[in-house]
Amino acid sequence: MNKKTLKIGIVGLGSVGQGVIKILQDNSELIKKKTNTDIQIIGICAKDKNKKRDIAIHKYKWFDNPKSLAEDKSLDVLIELIGGEDGIALEVVESAISSNKHVITANKALLAKHGNYLFGLAEKNKVTILYEAAVAGAIPIIKTLRESTASNDISALYGILNGTCNYILTSMERDSITFDEALEKAKELGFAEADPTFDIEGYDAAHKLSILASVSFSQSIAFNDISIQGIKNISLDDILAAKDYGYKIKLLGIAKKNYNKLTQNVRPCLVPSESQLAKIDWEKNAVVIKGGFFGELTLSGPGAGRLPTASAVFGDIFDIINETNYPSLGTPLSNLSENISSDNYNEKARFYLRFLLPDVSGTMASITNIMAKNNISIDDITQRISKKMFKQNLVPITIITSTTDFVSINKAVEDINKNNYSPISPNIIIIED
Ligand code: HSE
Repeated sequence: MNKKTLKIGIVGLGSVGQGVIKILQDNSELIKKKTNTDIQIIGICAKDKNKKRDIAIHKYKWFDNPKSLAEDKSLDVLIELIGGEDGIALEVVESAISSNKHVITANKALLAKHGNYLFGLAEKNKVTILYEAAVAGAIPIIKTLRESTASNDISALYGILNGTCNYILTSMERDSITFDEALEKAKELGFAEADPTFDIEGYDAAHKLSILASVSFSQSIAFNDISIQGIKNISLDDILAAKDYGYKIKLLGIAKKNYNKLTQNVRPCLVPSESQLAKIDWEKNAVVIKGGFFGELTLSGPGAGRLPTASAVFGDIFDIINETNYPSLGTPLSNLSENISSDNYNEKARFYLRFLLPDVSGTMASITNIMAKNNISIDDITQRISKKMFKQNLVPITIITSTTDFVSINKAVEDINKNNYSPISPNIIIIED
């Protein structure tokens, strides 16, 4: 597209939508200098025109109907910043593509659910969908995978993909506070949504992982194949025990290739305190990629927020101006393989376990016997002190196992529960050494 103007329409004027307008207002000279293009906002649309906003919007043409903006004849690029996996976001993107407009979106939920269909529709209509802002905010991870590292066979990808969870886990560790206290603090500071369910239950990270896995492994998007576990069950006791063992607990999105099959997991993990990922604290995001030629690469930075996310939207705008024309998922759609997923049962790893068990003689012996019967070797077993549980004559016992698998761990935990009364289920956390 060698024209001197690019006409964009913005649907959704929340934090990121306002950020896009602000960047264009503040940096228009720099953008013009770099692109030789005048980017014009030909229309904006949101649920409520009169809502109080930080950015003045009166000079832009208002559309009550987002589809009218998406289908407007003069439009080149529709920027969808509404969010949500279905509903109006889906309708607007479909309308824009069907009217031969390029689409830029920050909507990971939409792409996780409808990406395969929407990318196909875009190919048919000879337009592109770009989505750098949908994954890890300002971190240029999609470009890195799609362009810079494209010649590599990627073997694994590990990401801290949710700033809310990373903030909560960091705050629990640094401030020695409970999960609920850390969540409240995150809400007060604006790092967690009023309803943080999607974040803390791992769905937001899983949406992002499904997109990253597709670009990394040349497979179609397979959100439903992701095994998802959030951070609600992580207690301060787990954080402190992990620290004692030389680990931090992080919510990781992990995609790994194993004998041509892909495993995709979002789950809390123990990572060594000195590892790169352990050092990504508070609301920051990071992605580690392992590839044939470069070995290992880590990208980190702000994974959310108005201007960081809007800056990623501009990376996509520049791609459209420069007609870079990379396949959206890094591989032409017709060359993507169907996802061949595998489950986690045979995955070999070390595990952290925390039980709350009766403080009576024979408990330790019972645990170690059951572990031995299930061929699990114990690297460490520690009885910890809990004033809270002391009255109930219960004690926390933490275990680090040597390498084993989920089948053996689940069987051993079931046997331990049968043999020793406990009012709570044990916490089982995989160790990503
Ligand atoms: N709610 C997300 C997070 C940011 O906490 O990381 C937007 O994806």
